[in-house]
Amino acid sequence: MKPVKVGILGLGTVGCGTANVLTRNAEEITRRAGRGIEVSHAAARNLNSPRNCSTDNMKLTDDAFNVVNDPDVDIVVELIGGYEPARELVMQAIANGKHVVTANKALIAIHGNEIFKAAQEKGVMVAFEAAVAGGIPIIKAIREGLAGNSIEWLAGIINGTGNFILTEMRDKGRDFADVLAEAQALGYAEADPTFDVEGIDAAHKLTILASIAFGIPLQFEKTYTEGIGKITSEDVDYATELGYSIKHLGVSRRTDEGIELRVHPTLIPKRRLIANVDGVMNAVLVKGDAVGPTLYYGAGAGADPTASAVVADVVDVVRALTADPENRVPHLAFQPDALSDMPILSMDDIETAYYLRLDASDEPGVLADITRILGERDISIEAILQKQPAHGETSVPIILLTQRIREKQMNAAIKQIEALETIHGDVVRIRLEALDAD
Ligand code: HSE
Repeated sequence: MKPVKVGILGLGTVGCGTANVLTRNAEEITRRAGRGIEVSHAAARNLNSPRNCSTDNMKLTDDAFNVVNDPDVDIVVELIGGYEPARELVMQAIANGKHVVTANKALIAIHGNEIFKAAQEKGVMVAFEAAVAGGIPIIKAIREGLAGNSIEWLAGIINGTGNFILTEMRDKGRDFADVLAEAQALGYAEADPTFDVEGIDAAHKLTILASIAFGIPLQFEKTYTEGIGKITSEDVDYATELGYSIKHLGVSRRTDEGIELRVHPTLIPKRRLIANVDGVMNAVLVKGDAVGPTLYYGAGAGADPTASAVVADVVDVVRALTADPENRVPHLAFQPDALSDMPILSMDDIETAYYLRLDASDEPGVLADITRILGERDISIEAILQKQPAHGETSVPIILLTQRIREKQMNAAIKQIEALETIHGDVVRIRLEALDAD
């Protein structure tokens, strides 16, 4: 049988990684796919840029539309990233009847509903395993491996750059900007690295995970996003003392009232495996009603790990080329006409536990005022840590861990605590997830 022809859009870190993996493992990949797979075309912005892969047997162009419109190309692999022109290229590829593989989480999270609809109508596949958690086959795990479960919640460290920064700062005391520059040099970071540090990239990925876990349309605009910029070494140290790690977590939970969809720094008990996922590694914890908690771990960014997921998608597409489009695995795991309209909850209505740090006057009655305010709002305290004032200081840090409570209640309590004359500045609040089997 003739080899399947692949056209790659973008020959950066992941594009070259994909070309290299396809070449290096060609023999085994052919045995798995049932046909040879060859990169016949590629588009790169600058044809003269130095790159880490050979382009000897490829038709090269600096106009990605040439690849998308070339009748010889069977599968378009979109690795340009960003919203445009990626969206236009993917829509054009679909209109031309080509299957698409993409690693573009921003594209899928924002335009996925439109893209999948067009693909469905045209009977082509759009595969996006590499869009979430780099090399970890988490899409396949949830969409196929857990298809018998009702998923209750999932939580993930799904931005490699952010996790790399937090780990290096904690373990080596390195400077934020310095570690970010290294992540950029290693090809981990987004073109706009604020997407990594402000949680936008993680929110894109969480949006996708929640859709395939709960069978809901992609709703990025309703995802709550908080970055890692405000995590201080002080909070990291107190969290450690109390037996917790601080991780930048994406959390989505199904409740009776709707779906929680949120990305924020989170305290996690140190004894959980996921709390020990460091550096560029990613991990996703998924709780299904039948299987219980399951954990998926691996490299979340980088050339070869991301290429691993891209190539797996290409193999999947090649295997399915002859299958009846009606009988393929649906893009969002659930049949398109069976998606649910369960609402996404506002942050006021989510429920979580909290870490609070207050700067309080060292006077009698201060702690009583705080515990009274929390008690009046049904907020139960799990742990308290108070340090002696430093020499010559008149205020002390007080750290509290609370049990789970609705965010609205906590907001009101924090406002009341901040109004006390004995409390200085803002209360630092970091959400806390036990991530236990319940
Ligand atoms: N910038 C992303 C990360 C790349 O650091 O996780 C992988 O999606």
